[in-house]
Amino acid sequence: MSDNKKIALVTGGNQGIGFEICRQLGQAGVRVLVGARNPERGAEAARLLNAEGGDAASVRMDVTDAEQVTAAAEDVARSYGRLDILVNNAGVLLPESRPSESGAELVRQVYETNVFGVVRVTQAMLPLLRKSAGGRIVNMSSSLASLRLHGDPTFELGTFLMLGYNSSKTALNALTVMWAKDLAEAGIKVNAADPGYCATAMTGYASPRFAAEGARTPVRLSLLPDDGPSGGLFGDNGPIPW
Ligand SMILES: NC(=O)c1ccc[n+]([C@@H]2O[C@H](COP(=O)([O-])OP(=O)(O)OC[C@H]3O[C@@H](n4cnc5c(N)ncnc54)[C@H](OP(=O)(O)O)[C@@H]3O)[C@@H](O)[C@H]2O)c1
Repeated sequence: MSDNKKIALVTGGNQGIGFEICRQLGQAGVRVLVGARNPERGAEAARLLNAEGGDAASVRMDVTDAEQVTAAAEDVARSYGRLDILVNNAGVLLPESRPSESGAELVRQVYETNVFGVVRVTQAMLPLLRKSAGGRIVNMSSSLASLRLHGDPTFELGTFLMLGYNSSKTALNALTVMWAKDLAEAGIKVNAADPGYCATAMTGYASPRFAAEGARTPVRLSLLPDDGPSGGLFGDNGPIPW
């Protein structure tokens, strides 16, 4: 492709906040690759986005499958030669009981997608992001990751104590900081986004906040100018403490 459109890959872009990120990036003139583990759902999402004027294609990618991730990176390299924006949005929240009752197997399962999946995809896409004039990586985190907030007795989500999920997002925050420092000299900004508590399949649609509202912060971080921040966790109202 020889035009100047930015190219974004959004993992888990076929539904929920990821789909809304794809939609809003498309509205901002970005060519969007909808990452989806189910190719039919990915194709349907791309079709919907294109029907409303977007410029979307789907890419099959289960983030837990190393071969699929490698194949997806090869696909992007062949078709576009670079990547400008990577949104590590795919995530899982599995049924969890009290932290004292959660075992290593459950935690490992959550980390397989929320942590190792992000490492796998980012490693595979980094050579393509390095070819961008200003690469951006956005990791979908959560205020539930914040150790400082959990230490505040007034934290409104302080009773959501999921050992696997919360700590996976804390680990993701740590990855964000390490990558941000390492990739600064390559001009790649890496930030984490808290979308807020949104009505999606993950939350059983138990929130009055629309996924589209949750997409705003990750979209803003995807489109940061060169003098924008890197290595932070941000929500609607700005920085969130680690
Ligand atoms: N909703 C909230 O209130 C909230 C709050 C804070 C943070 N977040 C974070 O925001 C992100 C999006 O969540 P959401 O609420 O939009 O959830 P969602 O509607 O359940 O969507 C999750 C997406 O991730 C995909 N996914 C899961 N495992 C995958 C894998 N192994 N490989 C590829 N894709 C995979 C799902 O694919 P399928 O469609 O195939 O299942 C789906 O597209 C997550 O990282 C979540 O932790 C959400």
